Amino acid sequence: MSLFNVYPLFDITPVSAKDVYVYDENNVEYLDLYGGHAVISIGHTHPKYVKAISNQVQQLGFYSNAIQNPLQNQLAEKLKSLSGCKDYQLFLCNSGAEANENALKLASFHNGKHKVLAFNNGFHGRTSAAVAATDNPKIVAPINAQQEVDFLPLGNLKAVEKILQQNKTCAVIIECIQGVGGLDQSTTEFYQGLEQLCKQYNTTLIADEVQSGFGRTGDFFAFQKHQITPDIISIAKGMGNGFPIGGILIHPSIKASFGLLGTTFGGNHLACAASLSVLEVIESEQLMQNAKEIETYFREKAQTLPGLKTIKGRGLMLGLEFDFPISDLRKKLIFDQHIFTGSAKNPNLLRILPPLTIQKKHIDLFFEALINELNTL
Ligand SMILES: Cc1ncc(COP(=O)(O)O)c(C=O)c1O
Repeated sequence: MSLFNVYPLFDITPVSAKDVYVYDENNVEYLDLYGGHAVISIGHTHPKYVKAISNQVQQLGFYSNAIQNPLQNQLAEKLKSLSGCKDYQLFLCNSGAEANENALKLASFHNGKHKVLAFNNGFHGRTSAAVAATDNPKIVAPINAQQEVDFLPLGNLKAVEKILQQNKTCAVIIECIQGVGGLDQSTTEFYQGLEQLCKQYNTTLIADEVQSGFGRTGDFFAFQKHQITPDIISIAKGMGNGFPIGGILIHPSIKASFGLLGTTFGGNHLACAASLSVLEVIESEQLMQNAKEIETYFREKAQTLPGLKTIKGRGLMLGLEFDFPISDLRKKLIFDQHIFTGSAKNPNLLRILPPLTIQKKHIDLFFEALINELNTL
């Protein structure tokens, strides 16, 4: 059987990995500044993570959500203490799209409205409501297009109010730092204004932290820089360091009832063990602090790059915007320099999404390689 051919692939076959390095079948070493698309938070094959998953699978890998699973409570407690989001409730699922799908659905259950407000260049996943709220018509099928979604540019509170006033919008969904779109962000004034308008018009504010959460920006969540309190926070990528797990944090103003949400695999024992060990390592190795320090170092080094327009993003969710398309440069970095980086919807943006364990010496290696390649363009 052939594979359904939806991914344009780089011809590289990783077979093992350790911390910030990935190795192919010929034992060629690649520096991973892509983190499998912002997924690898605590480094590849971290020994505590490997031990936690191995121990758990030997005891009980999975049972359904019809029984008690204390690991879910432990995960909720640890999330509370590391994120500082004290009063929230946790619902667990399996991916980022699923987290946003549940968030949007819950918002609609909660206030009885049906439209969504999302932002230009936003990405929220490929399931029904999540993809409809994603600003990319190419991935929205007619069945998804039945959802009613308004898109606005980031930063325009007047336009937001005009839509919320119509009293049809169940949720506003926003990435405080856009990932796939290209690391654009707005001002604290805008995010606080958005929160205020959502309260005023009984609309649920959903912070999509699927990519920016779990310490990647140097804060646990990207929205925390703006001192806002979203009604729902969606999480996934860095949460399992590669083990599929997602979830939503739900403000106490939104009440649960039996059967409102549900999933077979969500919150299973193995996924919880994986995510718990991720949180323990983020805490014990002070990886949020590391994200901040490495960002500062990275920005200093980037100042001198030829052809650089801007440095975008925050923490270890960074982008170098050039005055030319970066796709050839990215290929050269992979094949000639053995460094993985990311791209974005913005064709001139090279994205840097490494494991949060990355050190200054790896940043030095990257800039050396990048300058070599820039000189040959
Ligand atoms: C901000 C954001 N939300 C949602 C998603 C969808 O996550 P998943 O691919 O796990 O469904 C992504 C994936 O890139 C994302 O970056």
